[in-house]
Amino acid sequence: MRIRAAHPSDSAELAELFTSSVHGLASPHYDANQLHAWAPNPPDPDYWRRRLAAVDVRVAEIDGQLAGFVGFHDNGHIDLMFVHPDHARSGVATALLKHAEHELAAVGVVSFHTEASEAARPFFERQGFEVERHEFVDARGVEIGRYVMRKRKGSSAPGQ
Ligand SMILES: CC(C)(COP(=O)(O)OP(=O)(O)OC[C@H]1O[C@@H](n2cnc3c(N)ncnc32)[C@H](O)[C@@H]1OP(=O)(O)O)[C@@H](O)C(=O)NCCC(=O)NCCS
Repeated sequence: MRIRAAHPSDSAELAELFTSSVHGLASPHYDANQLHAWAPNPPDPDYWRRRLAAVDVRVAEIDGQLAGFVGFHDNGHIDLMFVHPDHARSGVATALLKHAEHELAAVGVVSFHTEASEAARPFFERQGFEVERHEFVDARGVEIGRYVMRKRKGSSAPGQ
């Protein structure tokens, strides 16, 4: 696995990866309306060009294919974390999160936060994040539940 900065030319592939990830991996946790509101299929390329330009993005490549990506801000916000279903549970998100945390720690960030989906909550808990609160957000007119989660740098994951 290789982790590198995203290029603007990755945006169409990342939009496809996001869509496959939500529909393939979050589907046990949300109904069809919620999934389509969260990840319209096909994705809107202009939306994704703008979305990805506004965040630091690192991608994981396996055999030249994009396997996942993380998006973050220098206030410690982990904004995006999506893995392709073909590469689920093989450590891609763990590697991306460690990479993002390392880069952020290097610029003095000591606390990380995210808004985790029902599907992602166990992953972030495993990485040492704790739930601050549950909330509902409006996505294209549909309510979607998620967890605001936080981790202080150096918090160890449960059992590690
Ligand atoms: C959540 C997500 C990013 C995890 O990616 P991943 O690369 O599969 O995660 P990893 O392989 O690094 O998982 C590390 C550990 O996290 C935990 N974990 C990950 N996915 C899990 C799941 N679906 N259920 C329970 N635990 C999970 C496990 O402890 C796992 O270790 P194990 O596989 O040895 O048991 C991925 O499932 C995904 O993209 N989901 C859909 C989109 C989404 O909800 N993204 C987050 C938006 S906030």
